[in-house]
Amino acid sequence: MTTSSSGVEIRRGLMGVYFDRTESCFIDGTIGKLLYRGYDIHELAENSTFEEVVYLLLYGKLPTRRELDAFDRQLRSDRDIPDDVLDIINKVKNGHPMDVLRTAVSALSAYDPDVRDNSEAALIRKGLRLTAMAPTIVAAHDRIRKGLKPVKPNPDLNHAGNFLHMLFDKMPSEEEMHIMDVDFILHAEHGSNASAFAARVAASTQTDLHSAVVAGIATLKGPAHGGAAEEVMKMAEEIGRPENAEPYARNILDNGGRVMGFGHRVYKAEDPRARHLRERSRTLGIAKGQPQWFGILTKLQDVMKPYQARGIFVNVDFFAGSIYYLMGIPDDIFISIFALGRIPGWTLNVVEQYRNNILIRPLTDYNGPMDVPYVPISQRN
Ligand code: CMC
Repeated sequence: MTTSSSGVEIRRGLMGVYFDRTESCFIDGTIGKLLYRGYDIHELAENSTFEEVVYLLLYGKLPTRRELDAFDRQLRSDRDIPDDVLDIINKVKNGHPMDVLRTAVSALSAYDPDVRDNSEAALIRKGLRLTAMAPTIVAAHDRIRKGLKPVKPNPDLNHAGNFLHMLFDKMPSEEEMHIMDVDFILHAEHGSNASAFAARVAASTQTDLHSAVVAGIATLKGPAHGGAAEEVMKMAEEIGRPENAEPYARNILDNGGRVMGFGHRVYKAEDPRARHLRERSRTLGIAKGQPQWFGILTKLQDVMKPYQARGIFVNVDFFAGSIYYLMGIPDDIFISIFALGRIPGWTLNVVEQYRNNILIRPLTDYNGPMDVPYVPISQRN
């Protein structure tokens, strides 16, 4: 916190500021604890499925078998996107996948029967439709830009398996489906992070869910938030071999730079989500005959060890990039995968904002010139 010359207390980046209450997500950054609706992320990552976690987040309880089956059927039946949206994707196919996703989600608002209904039930219906359709957008875009035909959603596959199938037109292995499912669980919700806050700010003006999700996608795209997985893998590719990792990282740090995939605004201990990706990055690397990536990441962790005293540990993005890479996913889609997982979280934040809405409108302390006389353009030099 700083105090300005006018005596106003300023908390840049809203650091440490609580702006509302939530029942969605608990984070204790000092010990690396994360709960969704009270349930520990480790238990969910080890025992649950993305579909069940989405139900938990949006309905506030774990479903019964019958509830989950009906819910899953609905998600599977909502995966198709209109041909018009496929045409739009084709027109903007040269854009970054996150820009294409943002554009396509925006376009979907024109086709959603509930677009103007901001009742809680309609917000959830729309959020679930977007959750179901977004993988179709990301996969179709990747195929269209490669000159390939989009693959239709496969209702026999779960959310994670269907995404991989649409991306590669190939049946994913059980292991790949499971890893992607866990990855979606780990990304599903994370409290008042920058993209969820952006979605809440949008919702606080009483705009619709599609607009709020577009704000979330736009905010997630930056490297300080969702873009780090891609940056980590780019770094690993530049490093090339484990023995190059130490001088590479030292060079970044000596020049005041940041090693991507480390540090977090909230976690001052290890990000609990990283645990579930670390071991999978290792085993997938061995299975694919490319153990060097995990070797490089391990060396980077060693170099960064002294930074733990300053609360800088690996975050969720550190191992994610290597996993996507090993599955053959193009690196500019890594952030989109984060977005696919996070749509339920954004929806939940919008629902909570709507339940007890107040316009989010903070202040900035003006420190520019005052009452400057206007000079007509003809008299300016
Ligand atoms: N490597 C080296 N030093 C770091 C790093 C890093 N990755 N992250 C923070 N620091 C240092 C930083 O230089 C600063 O040092 P000093 O006090 O000497 O100036 C100090 O730690 C505090 O950094 P900050 O930027 O003020 O802290 P923040 O809470 O605003 O930053 C962060 C959080 C995620 C933006 C930052 O840690 C970072 O840029 N990390 C790399 C990008 C990254 O991995 N992002 C993914 C975040 S996890 C996914 C998600 O949930 O969004």
